[in-house]
Amino acid sequence: MGQKGRAIVRMDVDELIGLLNKALADEWLAYYQYWIGAKVVKGPMKDAVIAELNLHATEELAHAELISARIIQLGGTPVLSPEEWFRISNCGYDKPEDPYVEEILNQNIKGEQCAIKIYSGLLDITREGDPVTYNIILQILSQEVEHEEDLSSLKEDLDLMLSRRK
Ligand SMILES: [Fe+2]
Ligand SMILES: [Fe+2]
Repeated sequence: MGQKGRAIVRMDVDELIGLLNKALADEWLAYYQYWIGAKVVKGPMKDAVIAELNLHATEELAHAELISARIIQLGGTPVLSPEEWFRISNCGYDKPEDPYVEEILNQNIKGEQCAIKIYSGLLDITREGDPVTYNIILQILSQEVEHEEDLSSLKEDLDLMLSRRK
């Protein structure tokens, strides 16, 4: 399967696998950031924020599934240890030390903006050489854009609510 998967790819497959592994590390860190954020978040609109964070966590995990499956199809090995996540990640991890809703939202918005930038770059890289990966990345990117919008609109509602109270 690995060799067949590679056969139709007209680009440097090892380089592509390396880039996909970096994205895989990002997804796991994003997953945990959302998951733990939903546990610790405090403040106004908490319930709506928790629901959104949990949904996003589930979707980041699904992205990790898609990317790892593609890495294996290409004959590669998905990153084997969490220690490597930090070493190879593009977008890193923001520890939610301040549990206030607005802070949590800001951290995750920043993460989504990074993800959007990385996946847009991956689309450019795969457009000509690997239509299968291109399709997977397009699917993921569409969801990251949705994530960014959902978080921004929660933040808008929060700002509006707080400004009306004054
Ligand atoms: Fe994702
Ligand atoms: Fe996302």
